[in-house]
Amino acid sequence: MSEPLLVIDGIDKNFGGVQAVKGLSFSIKPAEVIGLIGPNGSGKSTSVNLISGTLPVSAGSIQFAGRSVNALNISERVPLGLTRTFQTTALFAECTVLEQVLTAGHTSFVTAPWAAVLRTKAAREEEARQRAKAHELLQFVGLADVADQLTSAISSAQQRLLMIASALASDPKLVLLDEPAAGMVAKERKELSRLIMGIRDRGIAVLVIEHHMGLIMEVCERIVVLNFGQKIAEGTPAEIRANPAVIDAYLGGAH
Ligand SMILES: Nc1ncnc2c1ncn2[C@@H]1O[C@H](COP(=O)(O)OP(=O)(O)O)[C@@H](O)[C@H]1O
Ligand SMILES: [Mg+2]
Repeated sequence: MSEPLLVIDGIDKNFGGVQAVKGLSFSIKPAEVIGLIGPNGSGKSTSVNLISGTLPVSAGSIQFAGRSVNALNISERVPLGLTRTFQTTALFAECTVLEQVLTAGHTSFVTAPWAAVLRTKAAREEEARQRAKAHELLQFVGLADVADQLTSAISSAQQRLLMIASALASDPKLVLLDEPAAGMVAKERKELSRLIMGIRDRGIAVLVIEHHMGLIMEVCERIVVLNFGQKIAEGTPAEIRANPAVIDAYLGGAH
């Protein structure tokens, strides 16, 4: 039994009078793919914001890789191996696809900034290593052919894959994906499923929010279901499919 990588325990998020997340607890093991589903407004994106450190929790605790990360913001969590994708509007329009991944990977640069200025041998070697890694990531997500195009010139499905490559550039242990298949056609979703399983095969855990049940059922080992900010079910895809509370939330909810 491996130790959990992420343990969230009784987290709450209040926005004024709105309780977006209430007493949410679950854990994720290394290299596990877990789905977070629920009707619109059930608190999925807020949960990703809390886990990634985009927003602070109102109550409860988040442990990652054996330490509390409650007091850390998103840029302090990324170097620990906890990262998320952002909306594609976070892409740099004037950058090429390759440059975007290089920029995203810069947090793991090991040489000092002055070394890059002096163009020392170590800095050149580090730069070559980063470029090779960025190329490998683009190959991995299926964007090698568009490496030299501007991020604004590729399709929206490709931009979503680029956000995943950028997230992987920080060498995460856990990646949080909020609706990665939005706007994708069936064939692209199929490729995304394969990619998510490929990320897991690299030993990286994935938390995926998605409303395409086909994708969730295919890639997730376990699924957590939210309704009105609370966990109403947790289990394997087969258990979730047969759970009356889940069926009720979807049929009775605003989805
Ligand atoms: N920044 C915010 N300020 C106020 N209310 C918010 C904010 N973000 C989310 N909410 C509210 O929290 C609830 C959960 O939203 P969200 O996490 O986006 O749900 P989901 O991603 O499941 O659709 C909703 O009622 C939403 O209106
Ligand atoms: Mg959302």
